[in-house]
Amino acid sequence: MSIRKIVIEPDPILRKKSESLEKVDDEIRKLLDDMLETMYAAPGIGLAAVQVGILKRIIVIDISKDEEKKTPLFLVNPEIISRSKKTSVYEEGCLSLPGHFAEIERPAECQVKFIDYDGKEKELVADGLLATCIQHEVDHLNGVLFIDYLSKLKKDMIVKKLIKQKKEFNKVVL
Ligand code: NI
Repeated sequence: MSIRKIVIEPDPILRKKSESLEKVDDEIRKLLDDMLETMYAAPGIGLAAVQVGILKRIIVIDISKDEEKKTPLFLVNPEIISRSKKTSVYEEGCLSLPGHFAEIERPAECQVKFIDYDGKEKELVADGLLATCIQHEVDHLNGVLFIDYLSKLKKDMIVKKLIKQKKEFNKVVL
């Protein structure tokens, strides 16, 4: 396993639509393992392949707390097949938007169809934080970021700060 570099907004790849996979083979499992390690190291609770620069419809999630036993979820070709009318609000962040958070309203429950680590078709009904996390990550596969749900003013402010953060970071590594 190895830790991959996380793409930071603004970056055009984060706006691209990821492609579906035909099957889960050893190469994909290696990517899934790397993504999980990258997510734990960050640390974060969800990561989409596009965030490590790969335009494939793959996400990894683990919403368990540090002290609990790790419960990773690998979702290949995730497809949200139903969403509740009831909504919930969580303060969301994103590993591609370090240091920025905003309250986002989304359907409180969702049902997702996907292929798991072993290549088996699965379905999952999620609520609470897991439902929000799945929707946030599936958005990534469609080139959507949580800041897209904010007003243009708020969104522009965050992007401007990220550009400044990137410049400062580059100064340090030079
Ligand atoms: Ni994210």
